[in-house]
Amino acid sequence: MIDSKAQGAQLDATQYQVDAIAKYEAVYGQHFISPGGADSARACIARLGLKPGMRVLEVGCGLGGSAFLMAREHGVSVHGIDVSANMLASAQERLRAEGLASQVTLAQADVLALPATTRYDVIYSRDVFLHIHDKTRLMALLYDLLLPSGLLFFTDYGRGEGQPSAEFAAYIAQRQYDLRTVRGYRELLEQAGFVQVVAEDHTAEFVFILRSELVRIGDDAAHADIRQSWLDKIDRARRGQQGWVWCAGRAQ
Ligand SMILES: C[S@@+](CC[C@H](N)C(=O)[O-])C[C@H]1O[C@@H](n2cnc3c(N)ncnc32)[C@H](O)[C@@H]1O
Repeated sequence: MIDSKAQGAQLDATQYQVDAIAKYEAVYGQHFISPGGADSARACIARLGLKPGMRVLEVGCGLGGSAFLMAREHGVSVHGIDVSANMLASAQERLRAEGLASQVTLAQADVLALPATTRYDVIYSRDVFLHIHDKTRLMALLYDLLLPSGLLFFTDYGRGEGQPSAEFAAYIAQRQYDLRTVRGYRELLEQAGFVQVVAEDHTAEFVFILRSELVRIGDDAAHADIRQSWLDKIDRARRGQQGWVWCAGRAQ
């Protein structure tokens, strides 16, 4: 099994190289590396029931977009963690520029190595768990990091119930992803002890978002790879292979 530092370094040398992050951000929108950028973030954040003064843990905060929105628009304090040094360095700079340092703290950390010394009202995560293979351990850790009645909310790339095509299986292997079905995520949350579990299929919305993002991707050779990867995601999602999952659950 790959350790935390090695995983962060590996992501920084591959999927989250500085120039790759910039290319993704140009598609997703300022401060975001996840589908729908700020619009999707606001739709997700609207489900959290945030009240001023609440404490939120954001797992895999990336460039900080969601953390900044939660702090500025809902008056909560946010602790964002991310395993990637490239993401964290950029997020730190942006945090200073946004003037939100009194409400947002950031740290380079692997969620699987986070001690449950501080507990949170809400844990929020956007399209991060695809990178984490030991999801049973992940869910148990997240449960322990929540206060009683605390809420876990996340979105993640998912997969359909059927057998992955050879092309989809190769993509998953190349990215070293671990993708779950909606049903699989529901079971994981229930097995970890979460109640009021929600597991929703947002694949149709994913396709709509991917199509609108495609318009923003350059037609030139420099953007050929990212354009093709968006076209592939649309194709897989339309064929019921790749999906987008939104989940929530409460600690007891
Ligand atoms: C697709 S990006 C999403 C970033 C951000 N959530 C957003 O919405 O813009 C996935 C992020 O998860 C982070 N990540 C992956 N594995 C992690 C782990 N074990 N602990 C913390 N962060 C992790 C990556 O470094 C990356 O920044």
